[in-house]
Amino acid sequence: MKVLVIGGGGREHALCWKLAQSESVSEVVCAPGNPGIAKVARCVDIAADDIGGLIDLAQAEQPRLVVIGPEAPLVLGLADRLRAHNIAVFGPSQAAAELEGSKSFSKTLMDEAKVPTAKFEIHTDADEAEQCIRAWGAPIVVKASGLAAGKGVIVAHDVQEAVDAARDMLSGNSFGDAGSQVVIEECLIGEEASCLFIVSGDTILPLASSQDHKALLDGDQGPNTGGMGAYSPAPCVTEDVANNVMEQVAKPIIAALKARGIPFIGTLYAGIMITEQGIKTLEFNVRFGDPECQPLMSRLTSDLGEVLLAAAESRLDDVTLSWDERVALCVVVASNGYPAAFEKGQTIAGLDDVERAGTVVFHAGTAEQHGNIINTGGRVLGVTALGNSVKEAQTTVYDALKALDWLGGFYRKDIGYRAISK
Ligand SMILES: Nc1ncnc2c1ncn2[C@@H]1O[C@H](COP(=O)(O)OP(=O)(O)OP(=O)(O)O)[C@@H](O)[C@H]1O
Ligand SMILES: [Mg+2]
Repeated sequence: MKVLVIGGGGREHALCWKLAQSESVSEVVCAPGNPGIAKVARCVDIAADDIGGLIDLAQAEQPRLVVIGPEAPLVLGLADRLRAHNIAVFGPSQAAAELEGSKSFSKTLMDEAKVPTAKFEIHTDADEAEQCIRAWGAPIVVKASGLAAGKGVIVAHDVQEAVDAARDMLSGNSFGDAGSQVVIEECLIGEEASCLFIVSGDTILPLASSQDHKALLDGDQGPNTGGMGAYSPAPCVTEDVANNVMEQVAKPIIAALKARGIPFIGTLYAGIMITEQGIKTLEFNVRFGDPECQPLMSRLTSDLGEVLLAAAESRLDDVTLSWDERVALCVVVASNGYPAAFEKGQTIAGLDDVERAGTVVFHAGTAEQHGNIINTGGRVLGVTALGNSVKEAQTTVYDALKALDWLGGFYRKDIGYRAISK
């Protein structure tokens, strides 16, 4: 079958790469794609949020399946529009995507479904937000309710920092409309993990566990980013934890959506924290994590095309997933300056050598210019390897990265350290 993938980051490269290996898939088309994706798919230069352009493309290409990678087109309703044209889609409806697109909706639904999560209040008025923050005290968490590319969450260690963040968000300064509501949360302490599920109606299929590193700097210091590295499996997700996430988080939230008349087809991503009081849900996303997708696809041995088509056609109950027993680990290479401003257009060399050293280089923020690969985004590459242990996979990636010839980029030197210390 022909599959159309929407998106052009590291996650979509990993999805296209796995789809291209699937027996069931004869052709992968990707919009807009990137130079890495172009090695495994035919790229068409239409942006992932150009809904009209993507509908025209799908009608012209007539793919058997469309897979929507990023959250933006899901929140804009691309899945609904495609389904209205009788095209099979892996990705939730606009209504279901509110689980990610609106943290206030998500927290309210968690409350309703009795999903364990941090205590919270939702505010639209800055004075009332300040009152709540002063009453609760620090540490405290302030979140812009809408989409903010992983940058809309402030974990504040003093009250004034939290008040300033809430006022800044509500004024519309930093996040525009996405900050017109803020969620104020009790600050939880514990280890985080990503628990992903392929969902179709009442069928909820867990993927292997994974863990990402959100902080910019070694030792999980510095500001949060879109993610600086990830690995799978995550040792902190024991069988017990996985069962609890299924029973206390995934099943009740999908049931609560259904009770509101909102069926879910796509990836449910539960960000959880394992606290002394048990598991707590930090957030939901409605797509694969980036970079968690890169190690997950590296370990998946099932036919991805078949799995996603079955989900799209509401026959997921026949499907089981199989995994490579080994560990996969991905290190993100970012442009100097990220997550703040950075210089674009620098030539990146040595990529073939990095791959020859036993890794797969997933492209994120790259473009091709005069035959060279250049950086165009904050997160640029996701260098991924399998190993018999986290340490072994980590060593392979970092040894391979010595061949990378790009002075304008940087990466964390400790991806996987939590798992290794266990
Ligand atoms: N209640 C909380 N207590 C402590 N830390 C928290 C809390 N909520 C969020 N965090 C921290 O902030 C990070 C980002 O929060 P959250 O996952 O809600 O934001 P996001 O921007 O939607 O992230 P993503 O880019 O993964 O979708 C979490 O991974 C966690 O480290
Ligand atoms: Mg999120």
